Amino acid sequence: MDSILVRGGTPLKGTLRVSGAKNAALPILCSSLLADGEHTFRNVPDLRDIQTTAQLLRHMGLEVDVAPPVVTVRGKPVIEPDAPYELVKQMRASVLVLGPLVARYGRARVSLPGGCAIGARPIDQHLKGLEAMGAEIELDHGYVNVKVPGGRLRGGDIHLDIPTVTGTENLMCAAALAKGRTRITNAAREPEVEELATVLNKMGASIEGAGTDVIVIDGKDVLQPVDHAIIADRIEAGTYMVAAAVTGGDVLLEGITFDHIEALCAKLRSARVIVEREAHGVRVVGKPPFRPVDVTTEPHPGFPTDMQAQFMLLCALAQGSSVLTETIFENRFMHVPELVRMGARIDIRGRSAFVHGPAKLTGARVMATDLRASASLVLAGLVAEGETEVLRVYHIDRGYERIEAKLKALGADIERVPGSSRV
Ligand code: EPU
Repeated sequence: MDSILVRGGTPLKGTLRVSGAKNAALPILCSSLLADGEHTFRNVPDLRDIQTTAQLLRHMGLEVDVAPPVVTVRGKPVIEPDAPYELVKQMRASVLVLGPLVARYGRARVSLPGGCAIGARPIDQHLKGLEAMGAEIELDHGYVNVKVPGGRLRGGDIHLDIPTVTGTENLMCAAALAKGRTRITNAAREPEVEELATVLNKMGASIEGAGTDVIVIDGKDVLQPVDHAIIADRIEAGTYMVAAAVTGGDVLLEGITFDHIEALCAKLRSARVIVEREAHGVRVVGKPPFRPVDVTTEPHPGFPTDMQAQFMLLCALAQGSSVLTETIFENRFMHVPELVRMGARIDIRGRSAFVHGPAKLTGARVMATDLRASASLVLAGLVAEGETEVLRVYHIDRGYERIEAKLKALGADIERVPGSSRV
């Protein structure tokens, strides 16, 4: 497995183009199951999760050509509407085929994703929503079997207990081809949900309210293929914003929509990072010392859980104590022991991390078992004295397009070490 080697101490400087959003691209690619014909998706990031999604769609008989940033999908009736364990275990977002399959074929067999490193992550809300639209659900041998008597879902009223992101996306896709009107309340408001609704509407669906907590969908009989360019990745952008700040750098991030990162920008400013909105993006200038800041993760438009690990690094460098509270996932502090090994002072009590700055970080060999935690360790390497080796880069490659090349272009002393030679 590759690792990433970073030598700290260089302020990042320059301009960086933000890639397309992973968490928008995944449901959008899965939505191509809803319509036959040729779909063209642009601004798709070059990531392992995109390859896994392509494999999943191919498994069902679709023709998928991945040539990032363009992915074309030739939608056609699937051979068998199933998502096997071998693919779902690689990427839990594979569950995003469930809504489109049930809507289109009136049945689906999808492996249950099970827990993952950051939490238990059940899909009960996805299933509850499908049941409200007339589906019958059975769990068998680790799979969820969904059947719709009569073959077509009907519109229903669905109140989500939790504003689940992929749950809202699955149900929006399901409702797009259902008979009649569906109303989803307490829906997730993330920009990726809104982006999926934009794509579905381009396909001919009738969806209103995406981006708010009430989404109303009038089901159609048939949908058409689309040509669509995907929004920029707010979490990738946020990660590089923190990287610019902690290294005392000056970076312009191009292509990002400011509204998508407002909560993060507000916290960066509270920490005394300069964040300026520019015509084509956002400029971040880091001038340590930073001020400590308390952060609680929340569903959008609150502070995103996907930025918690990276922001904790900034807090570790601040002059004083910060409290970071994670409310979305129950096990998302895996970066903490690794940051502590590098010299950070952090205590975890329940769902909160008490971070006592300022830390003087020193390089170490570190490893984390999820994507955002691993990214925070790369960023820690950028500020640590000496050399940091981040092992199991596999996780980073799932969600960051060529992170080492992008950081190198901004002046970082960073390289990828192929294979397991140093592991
Ligand atoms: N939950 C339930 N029941 C459900 C669904 C969710 O209890 O039926 C719980 C989860 O266990 C969790 C909370 O609700 O505690 C929120 O989970 P959500 O369903 O919103 O998360 P997700 O849809 O599985 C997406 C992103 C994650 C991101 C979360 C939260 C994709 C493919 N994944 O996951 O992204 O952290 O929303 O914003 O969109 C990442 O990119 O690193 C990542 C993990």
